Amino acid sequence: MDVKCCIFDLDGVIVDTAKYHYLAWKRLANELGFDFTEKDNERLKGVSRMASLEILLSIGKVSLSEEEKVELAAKKNAWYVEYISKMNKDEILPGVENFLSTLREAGIKVSLGSASKNSMMILDNLELTRYFDAIIDGNKVSEAKPDPEVFLLGAEELHISPEFCVVFEDAEAGIEAATRAGMRSIGIGSPETLGKATKVIPNLENSDLNLLQF
Ligand code: BG6
Ligand code: MG
Repeated sequence: MDVKCCIFDLDGVIVDTAKYHYLAWKRLANELGFDFTEKDNERLKGVSRMASLEILLSIGKVSLSEEEKVELAAKKNAWYVEYISKMNKDEILPGVENFLSTLREAGIKVSLGSASKNSMMILDNLELTRYFDAIIDGNKVSEAKPDPEVFLLGAEELHISPEFCVVFEDAEAGIEAATRAGMRSIGIGSPETLGKATKVIPNLENSDLNLLQF
């Protein structure tokens, strides 16, 4: 097996934070006077905070100044942080902790590759921080997925060439970012949306090192 590093997206791969993002965005939409459905929320997965706000405002046909947008994004984030601050280990998705532990035992490096600026708090609340050799998140990158920056920085920090890295992702933009980084990818979800991944599995339940045989 030639895999030396596994890079994990956070939201939707390690933990289901989409429901909290949804609650906070919906609250903001309602305050602005329009509705925001769970189907609308699908469009925000993997998308950065400011880009998500742009999509939300376009759904509500609301136009605002840059200053107002920054204010609303901060408001949404304060609500989101309120929700995620109550999260604990029980919310880790099935199979994740066991797989992280298997990777470490096998000497395979583990990195985070997430767009979120709240990733440290989430990993700490889930008690998963100690599994990660590198943490690359929204605070460290300037380009959003599908740009490969977030994954390339992880490989660079661990001094591992991209060809030996495998990315775990639930978003189409994340799979594209992995491909553009020259890495293999494992899509977590349905083959319909993640068909471009090297391999697609429904979740990480019962995963072992066989998953890294391509
Ligand atoms: C991604 C989520 O991981 O992070 C997006 O899939 C989210 O929904 C983005 O908008 C940014 O997150 P945060 O926590 O920095 O607002
Ligand atoms: Mg995700």
